[in-house]
This record gives sequence, C-alpha cells and structure tokens, in this order.
Amino acid sequence: MTIQENISLKSHNTFGIDVKARFFVEITGLAQLQKVLELTAYPKRFIISGGSNMLLTKDIDALVMHINLKGISIAEENGESVEIKAMAGENWHNLAMWSLDRGYGGLENLSLIPGNVGTAPIQNIGAYGVELKDVFISCTAMDVETGELVAFDKEDCQFGYRDSIFKNEAKDKFIITSVNLRLTKKDHVLHTGYGAIEEELKSNGIVYPTIRDISNAVIAIRQSKLPDPKELGNSGSFFKNPVISKKKFDKFIKHHPKAPFYELEDDQFKIPAGWLIEQCGFKGKRFGDAGVHEKQALVLVNYGKATGKEILELAENIQKEVKNKFGIDILPEVNIIK
Ligand code: EPU
Repeated sequence: MTIQENISLKSHNTFGIDVKARFFVEITGLAQLQKVLELTAYPKRFIISGGSNMLLTKDIDALVMHINLKGISIAEENGESVEIKAMAGENWHNLAMWSLDRGYGGLENLSLIPGNVGTAPIQNIGAYGVELKDVFISCTAMDVETGELVAFDKEDCQFGYRDSIFKNEAKDKFIITSVNLRLTKKDHVLHTGYGAIEEELKSNGIVYPTIRDISNAVIAIRQSKLPDPKELGNSGSFFKNPVISKKKFDKFIKHHPKAPFYELEDDQFKIPAGWLIEQCGFKGKRFGDAGVHEKQALVLVNYGKATGKEILELAENIQKEVKNKFGIDILPEVNIIK
C-alpha cells in the first residue's frame, strides 16, 4: 500500500475542482481498508468514491481514501429474481449495463447516473420515477472506529428523498463497501409513467417497451438535458427540489399558476427547483468559469477553472434570489466540503 502526498483531486471529482489531498491512498481490498483505518499516523480521514456528489472548496488536509473496491456477483437467484452484490467502487452505470446485458430488470430508469455503487445508498439516488430503495436489499459498511463490517437492511438505511441514515446519524461513521440489490428476471415492472419517457418511447415508435428500450430512452433524455461530466464539470442536480406545506403551496400557486409541481402524501408539495432558478433568470448564465447549465437550471457547471468557492458563491446567490422572489428555501443536494 502506497500513501502518496499532495495529490490533485481534479480527476476524482466530477466538478473537476483542482484541490489537493495532503495524503492519498487507493483502497482496493477490505483487509487493506481495515489496515488503513488502524494507522494512527493519519488521524484525519476523508473518503472519496466516484466524487460525483461533492463540491470541494479547499485542499483536504487529511488522508484521502479512494474507495476502489471492485466486483459484481450473484448472491442468490431463483426463477423470478436475482440478488446481486456489487462492490462499492463499481461504476453505477456499468452496473446498470451489466444487469441489462443479462436481462435483469430494475436499474433501467437509473441508467447513466454518474458515480459509484457505494455512494448510491447515501443519497438514495433516483431518476425518472425510480429510486435506489425500490431495488435495494442491504449494504455492508465498515465501522471506521472498529474496522468491523456491519450490515444495513433497507429499514436500517432510513431512505428518504435524496436522503438516508448515511447523511444523518451514520454520517462519517461508516464506509460502505458493497450493496445488494434485488432485480427481476421476468415479469419486469416497467416505470414509464414519467412524462419524458413516454414521449421518448413514442417518438421512437415503441408501444411495448423492453427494459433495454426504457434504458435507452432514459439515456437519450439525460444526454439531451444533463451535461456529461467528462465534457463539462458538474455534479448533477446541485439542489434538492423543495417540499412545502399546503398552506404555503396555495399561496405560491395563486401567484404563479403556471408553475410545475408534484403533490406528495400528507398535504405536501414538491416544486422543481430548476423552474424556480430559471424564473430568477439564472439559466445559462456564466460568472467566470462557474455557471448554470443552459438546459437544466438545477445543474451548476464548471467551464474549466472555477474554484469550489466560486461555485459555492454562485449557489448561495441562487439560494438568496429564489428566497427573495418566492419565499422558498432551496437546499443543496451535493455535499459541500468547506
Ligand atoms: N424545469 C424548468 N427549468 C429548468 C429545469 C426544470 O422549468 O431549467 C422544470 C421542467 O420543465 C419540469 C420540472 O422542472 O416541469 C422537472 O424537471 P426535470 O424533469 O428535469 O426534473 P428535476 O425535478 O429538475 C429531478 C432530479 C434529477 C432527475 C430528474 C428526473 C432532483 C434534485 N433532481 O430533476 O436527478 O434526473 O428529476 O427524474 O430530484 C440528480 O439528482 O443529480 C438528478 C439529475
């Protein structure tokens, strides 16, 4: 195991922010992970995986552990379904494609989501009407204090909208090492209800879609709206869509009758933050190398040399403007490292 010093993290975060790790180690095995956690010379640690959901605003004065655990296997199967186990360092989209290649259903709507398997449970990744929790069975995580492996089932994870125990009580206490998912081998449950998917299938003349057709539709929609981090640094949706009470919603919709919204349970309403940000005039705007994507205002982008602080400043201005215009607070979805 080699511990490197002063390593740039530019290629380890999808925003492409050029900050340095004081120390850096590549983690490729569980025993090695345990050993690194025992090293007393590096009391400060920082975990990085796909780096697709973080904004780094300064150099990391710690031992940065890049979780690069690999492997996908079948844990169990019967005629109807299969339980797969994927190690944390596997790329999420590769896992989705691996599943589709074998005819397994469940991940098609989650195609092309950037990032790695190990971070998927942290924010309960979701897109086009499906969330990780819909296929999730359990995950294994290493306790950073004891080095022990602990199993978390679906209930333990306390999944919510872009939320889980790993963003709350369990934050910084565990490193997710693998995830087990239940996928279907037949009688796939298709989720085509999300407007854009129906339109995309229709425009391709598909009436009875397969799981592959749905995946292709999702890929086409994402490619048309969301920037590819390899070409333009970004972290997907920067903010969560705000959820407001009925009382607040009634007032809001009276003033903005054209606003899109989703009605949730318990008299709650979700308003697309992308719409709110666009209404404030930010869509497609550029401030130095920090900008708001021209096709999806929820996505902040790095045109090349933006610093994390510049992106953060833009995010804070957006929050302020949205609050002034609509009286609604929008909160970041990405993990901001200050
Ligand atoms: N909208 C605008 N202007 C914009 C962007 C969106 O008016 O610039 C409006 C759209 O017209 C539409 C509504 O907002 O009426 C919703 O837009 P969209 O379908 O693009 O979805 P979203 O709510 O903006 C969420 C997720 C995305 C996910 C899509 C599809 C969050 C924070 N984001 O975006 O997830 O791909 O739905 O399911 O929930 C991510 O988390 O990184 C991510 C990309």
